[in-house]
Amino acid sequence: MLLPIMITALIFCTYGEKNPAVQVILTNKGLQYGKNVAADWIQEKLEFVTFPDMDGEIPLSFLGHIGYTLTGVTIAKCDFAEPSIEFYQDVSGLKMSIVGFSIALTGAWRAHCGIIYGSGFFDMALFGVDLVSVVHLGSDADGHLSLTNVSCDTQTRDVDLRFYGGSSWILQPFVKHLKARIKGQIEGKLCDAVEELIVNLDRHLQAMNVNFQVNRDLILDLPLTGQPVIDASSLRLGFQGEFYSIKRPKEPPFEAQPFMVPENPAYMLSMGLSDFTFNSASFGYFSADLMQIFIDDSMIPPRSPVHLNTRSLGPFIPQLPKMFPDLPVVLHTYARNFPVFSFHPGAITLNLPGAVKAFAIQPNATWTPLFKLHVDSNFKGKMWTDDGFLKGSVTMDNFTLTLVATVIGPFKIAALENLGKMAMKMFVLPHINDKLSTGFALPQTTQALLVNSVLTVEEGFVAFRSDAKLQPSDRRLS
Ligand SMILES: *[C@@H]1O[C@H](CO)[C@@H](O)[C@H](O)[C@H]1NC(C)=O
Ligand SMILES: *[C@@H]1O[C@H](CO)[C@@H](O)[C@H](O)[C@H]1NC(C)=O
Ligand SMILES: *[C@@H]1O[C@H](CO)[C@@H](O)[C@H](O)[C@H]1NC(C)=O
Repeated sequence: MLLPIMITALIFCTYGEKNPAVQVILTNKGLQYGKNVAADWIQEKLEFVTFPDMDGEIPLSFLGHIGYTLTGVTIAKCDFAEPSIEFYQDVSGLKMSIVGFSIALTGAWRAHCGIIYGSGFFDMALFGVDLVSVVHLGSDADGHLSLTNVSCDTQTRDVDLRFYGGSSWILQPFVKHLKARIKGQIEGKLCDAVEELIVNLDRHLQAMNVNFQVNRDLILDLPLTGQPVIDASSLRLGFQGEFYSIKRPKEPPFEAQPFMVPENPAYMLSMGLSDFTFNSASFGYFSADLMQIFIDDSMIPPRSPVHLNTRSLGPFIPQLPKMFPDLPVVLHTYARNFPVFSFHPGAITLNLPGAVKAFAIQPNATWTPLFKLHVDSNFKGKMWTDDGFLKGSVTMDNFTLTLVATVIGPFKIAALENLGKMAMKMFVLPHINDKLSTGFALPQTTQALLVNSVLTVEEGFVAFRSDAKLQPSDRRLS
């Protein structure tokens, strides 16, 4: 299992391809759950299989021949056996078998031999039919998963054939010959139906999106970065998992690092999300100039002891009220560079290099620059899942202010730094933690629901293990 992935990773590095930032592993448990859906689907499709008219001639040793036609052949009943499905390493795909099922068919017959004509109905049953289909899973140039037919084999243990109607005695002696012919045709038809299913499913896969607009600012690119890797117990997919700014799409100055999500056979799915994915979102927002905010006094809680005006800031910057008495102050707060997330076992850290430019607003609405500070803060967070919700908490690790420019002369930064820390702890963090403790619902589609999900933070990535529950109303793919 490790080896093919390492080789794949090596090839990617050699050719300058991207490492997958999102990895998904489908375990055998997931495959077995999915198979029931596939079985329903196949059964439903087979019920609608139509057979063309079959005609032929049976040579008679001295009387010429009997010509026959079978028309309107339909499947009357299908007794399906539980299918089995497994990962099939040899072809990097899946092997599905349905063993020992039976099919009942009905239709009409016509036959003639010289001047004798006959017609009527017939019943046919195939018992102990085995169907084995092998498909290969690959990826196309656009990063879609692809599905191709490798082989399809059928075998039938026993056939029963009965003709009814006037002159059915004409065909009766040739039942053995007809059984073999019709059996062969039906077996071929079953494989054709399976092949058609594979082509249909592949068409669905090719039509799937590989990039998604997340909101008005970001797009998420999610094509496969390489071929699926299949071993005896799992299917492993690697996706690009990179956010781009819609307004200013460009490559970030960092790359996805290789990582390996551990496979957990107790869950249907294991997923890994590299810190690269989070940082590409951060970089996307930053590149589009979206990481900035103008803070004025209307945004300061009324109960705050300090407000954004030159008088209230006097105790921290004594010269300010003397130079600019009683003017409102606006803080232009922005990221100097994109915030960087890093994931470590049990914890996420966020390094936020920020800056603040302070302005006094003159009575004639002119913004007079006062000073510029660098604000460097580090946060530590936790993330977990709870009953279908992604939750978290954040604490502040470090908060330092540095005066980098001033129009009003130097002033001591320590008191202002304490004020900043206090504002973060009393107003900003509680607000964020409030949201994080309510949590965000895990993504779900109309077809599937994630259940029993567990999230852990590992070195360089978030690992996510989950079972899925398919919604009963949507169990039919069409
Ligand atoms: C796909 O399946 C059909 C059976 O319907 C088979 O005849 C054909 O050879 C298969 N194609 C390949 C490429 O193996
Ligand atoms: C606005 O007022 C300030 C301070 O009184 C002054 O320096 C500035 O020139 C004025 N600007 C305009 C456009 O009147
Ligand atoms: C906090 O910031 C100070 C000053 O920039 C720095 O020396 C220190 O290493 C930082 N601490 C952490 C935990 O990042």
